[in-house]
Amino acid sequence: MQPLVPDIPVAVIGAGAMGSGIAQVAAQAGHQVFLLDQREGAAEAGRQSIAKQLQRRVDKGKLEQSALDALLDRIMPVNELSELAGAGLVIEAIVEDLDIKRSLLANLEEVCNASTILATNTSSISVTALGARMKHPERLVGMHFFNPAPLMALVEVIKGLATSDEVAQRVYATAAQWGKKPVTATSTPGFIVNRVARPFYAESLRLLQEQAASSATLDAIVREAGNFRMGPFELTDLIGHDVNYAVTSSVFNAYYQDTRFLPSLVQKDLVEAGRLGRKSGQGFYNYAEGAQKPEP
Ligand code: NAI
Repeated sequence: MQPLVPDIPVAVIGAGAMGSGIAQVAAQAGHQVFLLDQREGAAEAGRQSIAKQLQRRVDKGKLEQSALDALLDRIMPVNELSELAGAGLVIEAIVEDLDIKRSLLANLEEVCNASTILATNTSSISVTALGARMKHPERLVGMHFFNPAPLMALVEVIKGLATSDEVAQRVYATAAQWGKKPVTATSTPGFIVNRVARPFYAESLRLLQEQAASSATLDAIVREAGNFRMGPFELTDLIGHDVNYAVTSSVFNAYYQDTRFLPSLVQKDLVEAGRLGRKSGQGFYNYAEGAQKPEP
C-alpha cells in the first residue's frame, strides 16, 4: 500500500503537546499541515513552539535556517473545520474524552472528502467505539504517536472492528514514510504500550503513597537501576497528569473496573489542583524558571 504522497495536505486537530509534535512530523515529511485548536491562539502557539524547538537545531548547525523557514511555511494555523476539507489525512489529538471525540468525528464527516482518512491519536479509547456512530467507520483508524512525537519512533496503528484494511495499511505506510516505526494492533483498552505501562505508573504511585521513598528517589532508582530513560514521575509530568489520569480511568472502566487498573488518588489530587506537570509548570516537580530539582 502506498503512503500518502507529500503533495496531499494533512490536518491536525488539537495543538497541544501531541498535536504540535505530530504537525511537526508531517511538515518535516513535506506535507502542508493545517493545525486547528478550539482554544483561541493555541494553533499559532503550537506553531511557535515548533519554531522554538527547531531553532535550537539551527543554532547548533544541525538544520539550515532556510529549511526551518520552509517547514514553518508549511504549517498553517486555521480556525474552522471547513478549512480542513482538502486534507487527505486528518489526525485528531484533542482531549481524551469519548463524547467530545465522537462529536468532532461526526463534524469531520460532514466537511471532509469521502476519501479522507480520519485518524485518532487517542491513548486508550476504543477505536471501535469512536467509530460506532460514524457514517463510514471504515475510514477511522488509530494513529497513536508517543510523546514527544518528533523524537519517539513508535506509532501504534490501531484497527477498530470496522476499520478497513486499506486505511490501516495506508496509515502504516505513511507513518513509515515519515520515518517512524509503525506497529499494527487491534483496539483493546490502552492498546499495547498504555496497557503494559499502567502497572508501572500504578505501582510507583502506590510506593509514593506508602512513603517508600520520595518521587525523586523512586525516579532515580528506576532510571539508574532499571535503565529506563525516565522515572515514572518524570514521565507522567511530561505526559500530563490530566491525560494520564484520563487514560487510566478509561482503561479501568473498559476492564469493568478491574482493580489492577485502579486510578490513583495522588494523581487525581494533582489534576484537581491544576498541577498537570510540565505543561502547567508544576507536577511532581516544579518547572518554574530557576527551580531546583530535589536530590534523590
Ligand atoms: P493537551 O491538553 O496538551 O492538548 C489538547 C488540545 O486539544 C488543547 O490545546 C485543547 O484546546 C484542544 N482541544 C480540546 N478539545 C478540542 C476540540 N473539540 N476541538 C479542537 N481542539 C480541542 O493534550 P495532549 O497531551 O496533546 O493529548 C491529546 C490527545 O493525545 C489525547 O487523546 C491523549 O490521550 C493523546 N496522547 C497523549 C500523549 C501524551 O503523552 N500527552 C501521548 C499519546 C497520545
